[in-house]
Amino acid sequence: MIYHFEEGSQECRIEFRDRTILLTVINEAVCRVTALNRGEQKPQRSAAIEGDKQKQTAIRIQKEETGIRLFTDKIQIAVEEDGRIGFFEREGRFLTGYLSEGEESGSCGEELTEQQKAFIGREGHETADVAENAVSVKMTLDEADCIYGLGDKTGVLNKREYEYEMWNTDNPAPHEDNFKALYKSVPFMMVLKEQGAYGLFFDNTEKSVFNLGKENTKYFTYHAVGGSLDYYFMTGDDLADIIGEYTGLTGRVPMPMLWTLGYHQSRWSYMNEGEVRELAENMKKYEIPCDCIHLDIDYMEQYKVFTWNRDSFSEPERMIEDLGRQGMKIVTIVDPGVKKEEGYSVFDEGVEKKYFATDGQGNLYVNEVWPGDAVYPDFGRIEVREWWGRQHKALLEKGVSGIWNDMNEPASFNGPLPDDVVFYDEETPSCHKTMHNVYGHYMSKATYEGLQKLDDRRPFVITRACYSGTQKYAVVWTGDNNSLWTHLRMAIPQLCNLGMSGFAFAGTDVGGFGSDVTSELLVRWYQVGCFSTLFRNHSAMGTRRQEPWLFGDESLRIIRKYIRLRYELLPYFYDLFYEHQKTGLPVMRPLVLEYSRDKNTHNLNDEFMVGSNLLVSPVVEQGQVKKLVYLPEGTWYDYWTKERIEGGGWIVADAPLDICPLYVKAGAVLPKYPVRSHIDESKDEKLILEVYPGEGTYYHYQDNGTDFAYEKGEYNLYRIVNSGNGDVKMETEHQGYREYGEIEIISVK
Ligand code: GLC
Repeated sequence: MIYHFEEGSQECRIEFRDRTILLTVINEAVCRVTALNRGEQKPQRSAAIEGDKQKQTAIRIQKEETGIRLFTDKIQIAVEEDGRIGFFEREGRFLTGYLSEGEESGSCGEELTEQQKAFIGREGHETADVAENAVSVKMTLDEADCIYGLGDKTGVLNKREYEYEMWNTDNPAPHEDNFKALYKSVPFMMVLKEQGAYGLFFDNTEKSVFNLGKENTKYFTYHAVGGSLDYYFMTGDDLADIIGEYTGLTGRVPMPMLWTLGYHQSRWSYMNEGEVRELAENMKKYEIPCDCIHLDIDYMEQYKVFTWNRDSFSEPERMIEDLGRQGMKIVTIVDPGVKKEEGYSVFDEGVEKKYFATDGQGNLYVNEVWPGDAVYPDFGRIEVREWWGRQHKALLEKGVSGIWNDMNEPASFNGPLPDDVVFYDEETPSCHKTMHNVYGHYMSKATYEGLQKLDDRRPFVITRACYSGTQKYAVVWTGDNNSLWTHLRMAIPQLCNLGMSGFAFAGTDVGGFGSDVTSELLVRWYQVGCFSTLFRNHSAMGTRRQEPWLFGDESLRIIRKYIRLRYELLPYFYDLFYEHQKTGLPVMRPLVLEYSRDKNTHNLNDEFMVGSNLLVSPVVEQGQVKKLVYLPEGTWYDYWTKERIEGGGWIVADAPLDICPLYVKAGAVLPKYPVRSHIDESKDEKLILEVYPGEGTYYHYQDNGTDFAYEKGEYNLYRIVNSGNGDVKMETEHQGYREYGEIEIISVK
């Protein structure tokens, strides 16, 4: 092995007989490791990471007996003569390292048993159809390691001993724990160790498989069917540090429009204008706060994107204007599949300009989606994204406030797209096999950037398919769940892992999309949905309708209570998005993120936190009216009764149907709004600060909630100090926006 390193540079190039490894230090806690394929001089362009993330970092290289070691202030990386790499934290404590085939002991020095050795030598994997030139790596795991992240995968919070695939998949069957892949590919995992933590982002868009200690509990493997081994290693004391680094690389969710955090009502489909107007009337009649109605595919003429079905929506602009006066916004669905129909302008123009994917012979590639025969815009190309973005004028002109991107895995009804369908990676011809996992990513980017050009407002885009980094452009939902208790239970770890994978704005279809909901399940789902960032009730055609008032008075009363609670807590949610900008931390957090050294939190699947002050322990079992709640160390207050409870153990909480057990941390300041039927200008009239006994400091953020004026300083940032004895001091740290008309302080006794 020969290495090249120039003093003052942040790159070390290590040449082996058959390959080159490039270590590129991004900052003191993050190093990119690239194994260059033969003939490659530099790493490939990343779809996930935009702009130069490298910070000036002092590094040192030391020659060792069997290789070299790179040092930053936070990481040590040892590269051995045989190509193995070991990762250590700043003091030299081993974190993880490569194991080669048949190797007897890892860099951790741990002896493997005979049986484990046999496993390591074993070829092939149940699901990994790994090609010959496959990318493959095997790295050690310690006994106490827990694994989190990986986006929207099904199952439990801690992914250790499970296996997942990264291949964006639209599978309409009920999502079970044994599903290997769903709609999103986020090849990012975090390992929480007894001491410290590390993260790995395998930036490769090809189909890949993570075997997280299932094959052997002493290691995990990562395989990809193509591309190169190109990953970012990051370390920190805790998961929070790793999330900060990962979102520093791949981006964070931009400040959302405030109303998007309100309640959304959807159905496949509200079929005509009358139905939509009636829905808005019912919201008023039943006193359900609501900010948005979603129009699913049937608003279009024959499912042709960017058109309106004029028979059922004769005057969309009038309808949207009238609804706007009632405080209701409209979001419309836009799928990628463009109907193959001559005379339809989007199709004609796309064909003329060669904007659609082609087969190997240069013919249009046609598959089937909602409109029947359809073609696929080639979103990897900048020009196509710009063209697509401009199409949204047709919707915005009518008054539409947000776009819901669906079917962008891309989905196809007539068999999967062949690997060799030609898609471009910018100006370079590529293929479906390589671009599949970034199709939804680039579609979201096209939509976000298109809306941004057409309007001053912060774009509101929802997407189903994603790759790492899509969080910069779109809010996500977890796709077609079912009205099943198992799916309500799954929503918690799934949203928590999405949040820890950068997707701070995410939700499930409240009530479940497929199958028929029961009143009890619906009520319990609202008690979870109300604390997840995207709060939308959506259901499938042919299933029992699930608007809040269809399940009797008692259900309606409880659902209303939780939607109202959401509206009260909106400033808290908004503050958490502000915090996310600064730190990358999600809004909805598993307890392990806040209390990672408390082992009881490592596998806690049915509780979560909103920020660091509110603990939510919903009932997710049919018929249950008591809930076993884990409260971490510290003092807590029951949100409903204000009873003081010492944490550090389990309690049995009363949880009749109208109670979702909720606890507030001592010293917390909860900012609240008076309940409103929707978000509007009056949001600045009054802020309520609910102050809990105990000491604490809280930051509250306020801006117009609509456009980008905050980037020019039009915002207020308040520092609120709770002295613990009833005394609250509020200082304005930044003043650039109008002040609240009134601030009411409520001291909890
Ligand atoms: C897909 C979406 C679902 C939508 C339906 C019709 O199944 O996931 O949300 O309602 O398509 O557009």
